[in-house]
Amino acid sequence: MSVQAVRGMKDVMAPEVGKWQFIEATARRVFDCFGFDEIKTPVLEKTELFVRSIGETTDIVEKEMYTFADRGGDMLSLRPEATAGVLRAYVENKLHAQPGPHRLFTIGPMFRRERPQKGRLRQFHQLNCEVLGDEGPLVDAELLVMLDHLLKELGLRNVEIVLNSLGCPECRPAFRQALSAFLRGRAGELCPDCQRRLERNPLRVLDCKAEGCRQAAQGAPSIAEHLCPACADHLAQVRGMLAAAGVQYKIDPKLVRGLDYYVRTTFEALAGDLGAQNAVAGGGRYDGLIQALGGPAEGGVGFGCGLERLALLLADDPRWRREPALFVAALGAGPRAWAFELTQRLRRAGLRVEMMSQDKSLKAQMRRADKLGARRALIVGEQELADGVAQLKDMAAAGRQEPLPLDGAFEALRKLI
Ligand code: HAM
Repeated sequence: MSVQAVRGMKDVMAPEVGKWQFIEATARRVFDCFGFDEIKTPVLEKTELFVRSIGETTDIVEKEMYTFADRGGDMLSLRPEATAGVLRAYVENKLHAQPGPHRLFTIGPMFRRERPQKGRLRQFHQLNCEVLGDEGPLVDAELLVMLDHLLKELGLRNVEIVLNSLGCPECRPAFRQALSAFLRGRAGELCPDCQRRLERNPLRVLDCKAEGCRQAAQGAPSIAEHLCPACADHLAQVRGMLAAAGVQYKIDPKLVRGLDYYVRTTFEALAGDLGAQNAVAGGGRYDGLIQALGGPAEGGVGFGCGLERLALLLADDPRWRREPALFVAALGAGPRAWAFELTQRLRRAGLRVEMMSQDKSLKAQMRRADKLGARRALIVGEQELADGVAQLKDMAAAGRQEPLPLDGAFEALRKLI
């Protein structure tokens, strides 16, 4: 019996992989303009890192991490997200000793043992950005401008940015208490998960998709009424800068995130076309976290964007089709040798060119050219080689064909395709 991939973990292949390349290339270009440098951190970290940062009572830490004891007895986990590892690297490598803010992005796989469904995998990939060493609202606004710009550069229109402030250690406890008191009166309507969360993490109830919990949360106290003056001012400044930059967004006081480290600004980008797993990106500010991980008392803000979900939103488009510019069809030993040399020269000149590795009939070769979606085919047989003229066929224009002299074919093709 053949061995299959682990449930919820997928192979990404052509033509789909072309979308991924387009997304990554676009993201790298956008992140570069906004001053971000790439950082690559390990996919394995000490379990403690995630417990301390994401939070002990979150779904991720309670039930979704791939955790194991390595042979030396250390408890390790596959990273369920990128922020914790980036911050660990920031502290460990003393990047904070250099003047900030530090803008870092990373692209790679994350692992969460969730129930797989459309847009939800157990190995998924994030484009993740962090701005470290700055507490001011300007970097929050900048990050949102960048996210908005990225979504537009990818050609995504039906995506809405949703913004909230979760307050800070000054003002959140009073909100938490008020919310908890409100929800306790409706505990019977909550799903079993939320009944458990009620005491330890009542904010999560606001985020629960279960119908009973949504009903129970109607009329619940709002964080907006509980923000301290400093948090209210921070949010007002972020909003002012977003307005100035022309970024559209919606305020949602019920937006809470699934990770415990957030304070103040939190946001998500929600897609209209994705069904239940509609968040293409999520992020926010996490002042205090760098210090909790052994670094200085500095602020930070960031977001993670799901590559699989972005790919689901991208329709078919010639921009990420990986089609050969030319297929060289050769018949007979002499023509094949000539075609081989021409093909390699064109490839070294930067063109995607194909030829058949085996000696096949013209019909078989043209079928292959068609299947690959080649835009043009160059046909060379013994007769063409003797005459010094090949036939160049335009595969799109109903097979229109014209002669192409073999002498100077390389230069002519390089100009043409
Ligand atoms: P998150 O909301 O857990 O935040 O994940 C960010 C994005 O990753 C989601 O919006 C979604 O697009 C994608 N994602 C999450 N889980 C899955 C899954 N199982 N399958 C497919 N895609 C998924 C974070 O991870 C934070 N670290 C973001 C952040 C960075 N906050 C500050 N800095």
